[in-house]
Amino acid sequence: MTNTLDPNTLNNVTPHADLLKMAQAVRGNAYAPYSGFQVGAAVLGADGNIYSGCNVENAAYPEGLCAEASAISAMVAGGCLEIAQICIVKKGGGKVAPCGGCRQKLNEFASADMPIFVQGKDEELQSYTLGELLPIAFGKTNLEE
Ligand code: THU
Repeated sequence: MTNTLDPNTLNNVTPHADLLKMAQAVRGNAYAPYSGFQVGAAVLGADGNIYSGCNVENAAYPEGLCAEASAISAMVAGGCLEIAQICIVKKGGGKVAPCGGCRQKLNEFASADMPIFVQGKDEELQSYTLGELLPIAFGKTNLEE
């Protein structure tokens, strides 16, 4: 369910105070010469640290990396394996939502109720849960069945 009310109480979940700032700070470093679409992501780890990442494109287009994937990599490199929250923003405003591949990557380290804060059309934050964006997910537990 989308909620565009007070960004501090989106879906009754409070984004970590620095999450949006961190995502906004890193999006300017995105290397996106081909799409011009610069994205920043900030992940709040269960360890309380915020890990950020930006998209990194490549002349061999499929080798490009999404901002979410970069942030997840930073989190794992930092020794944390659980995502508590994520915020994703695009430079210049405009709607951005995690691509399908990134939803799957998030699912590896997050539960279905993990809040995903994304930037809406007018820079306002919108709140979803991973379960809303990736219903009937395939995950680790499927491999155990
Ligand atoms: N991109 C992201 O980094 N995250 C998203 O959630 C959507 C798309 C990047 C990939 C590519 O570098 C550019 O945005 C255009 O698709």
